[in-house]
Amino acid sequence: MAGFNQDIIEEIRSRCEIADIIGAYVQLKRRGSNSFTGLCPFHQEKTPSFHVDGKWQRYHCFGCGKDGDVFRFIMEHDNISFPDAVRQLAQRCGVILPERGEYDSGAAKAHRDEKERLLKVNEEFSAFFVRFLRENPNSPAGIYLQKRGISRDVAEKFSIGAVPEERYCCLNYGKYLGFTDEDLVAAGICGRSEEYGRIYERFTGRLTFAIQNEYGRGVGFSARSLEPKPADGRKYVNTPETMVFKKGMLLYGLPQARETVSKERKIILCEGQMDTIAMHRAGFTNAVAPLGTAFTPDQAKLIKRYADEVNIAFDSDGAGQKAFLRALEYILPLSISMRMIRIPGGKDPDELYTNGGAEAVADAVNSSVPWLEQFKDMLPSLYDMSTPVGRGQAAAFMVSLFALVQNPIELESYIREGAALLQVSEEALYSELSRQRNKEKRMRDISGSAKPVPQPSAPSQPESPEHSAQLTLFALAVTSQENARELSDLLPPETLEDGGLLSQALNLLLAAAAAGESEADTALALNTLLADKNDSELGKILLDPPVFNDPGKALADSVAELVRITRRRRYIAITMEMRSCNDPERRLELMKQLLEVSKDR
Ligand code: UTP
Ligand code: MN
Repeated sequence: MAGFNQDIIEEIRSRCEIADIIGAYVQLKRRGSNSFTGLCPFHQEKTPSFHVDGKWQRYHCFGCGKDGDVFRFIMEHDNISFPDAVRQLAQRCGVILPERGEYDSGAAKAHRDEKERLLKVNEEFSAFFVRFLRENPNSPAGIYLQKRGISRDVAEKFSIGAVPEERYCCLNYGKYLGFTDEDLVAAGICGRSEEYGRIYERFTGRLTFAIQNEYGRGVGFSARSLEPKPADGRKYVNTPETMVFKKGMLLYGLPQARETVSKERKIILCEGQMDTIAMHRAGFTNAVAPLGTAFTPDQAKLIKRYADEVNIAFDSDGAGQKAFLRALEYILPLSISMRMIRIPGGKDPDELYTNGGAEAVADAVNSSVPWLEQFKDMLPSLYDMSTPVGRGQAAAFMVSLFALVQNPIELESYIREGAALLQVSEEALYSELSRQRNKEKRMRDISGSAKPVPQPSAPSQPESPEHSAQLTLFALAVTSQENARELSDLLPPETLEDGGLLSQALNLLLAAAAAGESEADTALALNTLLADKNDSELGKILLDPPVFNDPGKALADSVAELVRITRRRRYIAITMEMRSCNDPERRLELMKQLLEVSKDR
């Protein structure tokens, strides 16, 4: 965890009273002995749905679902990384963090030094390319830029530069700066041929777009040929993957867009550099693009840190459609809204800007449509919407996307809209959804690996009886230590072995109750478990546990349900193994086990 050891984190967590910390940003009103409400700082609202709870040391917004502990609050509120939140809170509560060097192993430091060196190489060359272009406005690269209408200001803002045609120019300049050939190869400015081990230059004569990480540090280049159709077919040559250039984790234009994006919580996702720049020129300074690779889950997460809404400005051709679907796949699970900017005449934003100016771009951006509408319009090209079979397939496809949505309220409104769009009933879509989810679950059960799904936010399965029984028990254990102790006696441990976050949390509560841990220590341990899991479902129950008419019955029923499910799973696993088992001894053993689990079925 970024070099901090767990004890320090816990120390800070236990010293920071969450209501005091959050109270500095949000006006909190006392609601109970140790709980507070206020207006949510993460979304616009008039009536307070943001709750802070002293017992569990957590916050939860019942409006937008934001949820977490003190660290997450600071991270989300100030838009900073976990280590920065730790530093900030440490300072506030008077915990002294070890000096960098003290918790750094030698290897970690060497790694950081090497990274810093590569950043330096990139930044020196970026400055060199920019200067060369500035000083040679009538070079082929300069003329090319003028032709595309890119002014000097825009070029400077995006650190656009040009590489001289001269042989060995970068090698020589690198030497002059004191970098070794190895530095240049490690930074990707130069390459080394596999055959003869000779060093070569990558970007000679090209126009360069400096690629920077979100903090504006230079990590690499995307270099465009000046020919419309370059002879070697390489329109763009990019820095290869290096220690600091991880294409899938970067977004072009993010440092330039960051301020606007943070303010508006909205981002425009284009296809390439030129489109991004055109958007900025048209006044949409919240545009970014992936770097010539398909959009990745890491890029989706990067977006999530800054924005709640993505507007996609991809081409409407086949490749664009695919890219749109892929973006959906990564964006929907993160609770980011997605809209599609449709560009008239199948042009890209750069052409649109060149031909129609800022106004044409603004028209397109302002008439973006929700993703579901774009999706619906795609369906007739994929399915025969005039037949029940075709419509069924289309609905199944739509539902497979809905299944990615984690938040039940979001899901509900998608289902409502989807049903209206396809002119089918909501019930039909819900039953398709539970069919798909059960199928997925059965697959997992049968393959015997119902265990680890501990992704940051494993899909909650409102339909799964196992999940809802565990949730009930979690709520009961949260409400009283008495319940938790009773459960720790009653609930067979194997019923909580699916490895999911909910099972882990429940296990923790039961163990803490059995060991007689204090409430504060239990809360501390639970917050450690939930840290950066981003599972709003559990946070919500902690802050507002459901009330049961007959808690005793709810407890007994849920325990029985979990026992039954676990037994059935065990039964399936044994029969599956028996089918393929030829070893008589093992078969006998399995037979015994089967009798055992079938006994009280
Ligand atoms: P485009 O071909 O649409 O490029 O590819 P563009 O940015 O619009 O550039 P112009 O308008 O043709 O000058 C989209 C993105 O895909 C990557 C680049 O990042 C580009 O911006 N790409 C494209 C490559 O990495 N290599 C290529 O050969 C082509
Ligand atoms: Mn283009």
